[in-house]
Amino acid sequence: MDRINLNNIYFRKLNAKDIKELKDLHDEWFPMNYSDSFYQRVLKKNVIAVGCFVKSLPVPENPEEKEIIIGAILSKVRPNDEVAGEISRQRNRQTSFLLSWASWLRSLITCAPVPGAYIMTLGVVDECRRLGIGTKLIDETIRVLNQEWKACQVLYLHVVTYNETAIRFYQRNQFLTLKIEEDHYTIMDKNYNAILLYKDISAPAPDSVF
Ligand SMILES: CC(C)(COP(=O)(O)OP(=O)(O)OC[C@H]1O[C@@H](n2cnc3c(N)ncnc32)[C@H](O)[C@@H]1OP(=O)(O)O)[C@@H](O)C(=O)NCCC(=O)NCCS
Repeated sequence: MDRINLNNIYFRKLNAKDIKELKDLHDEWFPMNYSDSFYQRVLKKNVIAVGCFVKSLPVPENPEEKEIIIGAILSKVRPNDEVAGEISRQRNRQTSFLLSWASWLRSLITCAPVPGAYIMTLGVVDECRRLGIGTKLIDETIRVLNQEWKACQVLYLHVVTYNETAIRFYQRNQFLTLKIEEDHYTIMDKNYNAILLYKDISAPAPDSVF
């Protein structure tokens, strides 16, 4: 694929017609195989699936314009999320000196479910990296969460510790490290540690890129 013109890209939610292409891209981007049921999740209400597209130029032998996916992000919203709960408790401990005695006590005794959003996968095609597309996919996910899942204040993910590019990318996008999880991934029969990164999304995301 030639270097693309950023004015020609657009973002939209993924649908059933995009699944085959999404699968091929995941085979290219990730060292593990995802099951068919993984891709069917794109259609679920609690999954935010956003793609970045460009249209192929019509040529005489193929006059129809075709949409091509150049980046995609899949995130799952969990209404009662363990990690989001852990982050929220950590935040409450840090700010407890600012709370009144009564609200501090309330925060200790309430076990209200804490919703969180988990990035399952994010990828951009090789030829289109370092153009800001990954960042825009994150921003768009945050915008959808802020609009459609207002109670959700945490976006998080795991990255295998050797994927330094991805770690740098998330840190650049203001994700913080929560912890290292040992042997989180098994890739070709070998275990690998993962870094758990999260971002507070209670502040509004930049304007829509749709
Ligand atoms: C990680 C990934 C999604 C980043 O997408 P991208 O569109 O290239 O990212 P952006 O252009 O928005 O990068 C934003 C910032 O992240 C950092 N970054 C991204 N790629 C980097 C690289 N190869 N080396 C160093 N820093 C990098 C930079 O700070 C960059 O800003 P800059 O270009 O102004 O310096 C892409 O590299 C990818 O698809 N990798 C393969 C799949 C993967 O590992 N996914 C993540 C795990 S789910």
